[in-house]
Amino acid sequence: MFAVVNGRLTSWLLRSHGLARIYGTRLTSTQKTSKSSSEENAAVAADLAEIKECKLPPESRKTEPRLQIVRVYRWNPEKQHVKPHIQQFTVDLNKCGTMVLDVLTLIKAEHDPTLSFRRSCREGICGNCSMNINGVNTLACITKVEESAKPLVIYPLPHTYVIRDLVPDLRQFFDQFRAIDPYLKRPGEDNILGVRQVLQSTRDRKKLDGLHECIMCACCTYACPPYWWLGDKYLGPAVLLQAYRWVIDSRDMAHKERLGKLRDFYSIYRCHTIFNCTKTCPKGLNPGKAIAQLKRLLAGLTKKEEPDIETPIPDPCHGKEQYQYGKD
Ligand code: SF4
Ligand code: SF4
Ligand code: FES
Repeated sequence: MFAVVNGRLTSWLLRSHGLARIYGTRLTSTQKTSKSSSEENAAVAADLAEIKECKLPPESRKTEPRLQIVRVYRWNPEKQHVKPHIQQFTVDLNKCGTMVLDVLTLIKAEHDPTLSFRRSCREGICGNCSMNINGVNTLACITKVEESAKPLVIYPLPHTYVIRDLVPDLRQFFDQFRAIDPYLKRPGEDNILGVRQVLQSTRDRKKLDGLHECIMCACCTYACPPYWWLGDKYLGPAVLLQAYRWVIDSRDMAHKERLGKLRDFYSIYRCHTIFNCTKTCPKGLNPGKAIAQLKRLLAGLTKKEEPDIETPIPDPCHGKEQYQYGKD
């Protein structure tokens, strides 16, 4: 704010505090082109009023309400006689932050405390607040509310069983995630788990970029038509992206077993490369591409590369590990 008034205020301060003498030459040339002093005084007074207004607490500032219509899917299992329906709210966007999650929080705080939705981190990290906003599966906490004459329409993720309001039942989704063993597997090394670091070169680590960022929000999976129809058998884009992430990890030694589990009619081959998943991912990832890479591995068109660095088994006689530093 001070920067805005800086020019006019500085010249006023210089004159009113006798600093004009110090900057004599510059001020004289400025004065030649400046407006009359009464106009300047009025401008400075306006600036000072603006500063005073800004220092007031937000609730006492004079601002026009920015009303936005919000339509939200509602269903409460405790009220079996009330069918699922859309409830309309009119919210003042001046009273909340800029994201859809802020609007929902305002509705819960001021309009209807029974509204249910999931959220935790409010910064696109936990994946809890995934929902369908204006027809797109995305995260409410990183979706900006555009003030518009059109209503903001919010549904739970499509084709999910709904627990209540905007809370989907994701048990099937996480059961499938669990089924792909989303952790490092090194068969035969169970007795030395946690004893040493497993090394990875920078080049091998880069292969995980675009995969490890997945927050399992399920936006892509519930945007995928084959998953809508065959979700109990087809794993869907999010889980398959995770499967690929573990298959190509240079430290993982169970890629053959992992690929073997996917080699059936449904788990992966129901993907028809429609790329809804990639289009909707709020983290900008490309599950469609990961699925295509998995299919190439399954078809034998590509092979998993040997790791750049092998981590040796610790030598119990010397009590200390001898790392091999490879091509990195
Ligand atoms: S590319 Fe495959 S996984 Fe992605 S939306 Fe299409 S069918 Fe589903
Ligand atoms: S790939 Fe994207 S949309 Fe799918 S679960 Fe991961 S972060 Fe969410
Ligand atoms: S609240 Fe965590 S991703 Fe939105």
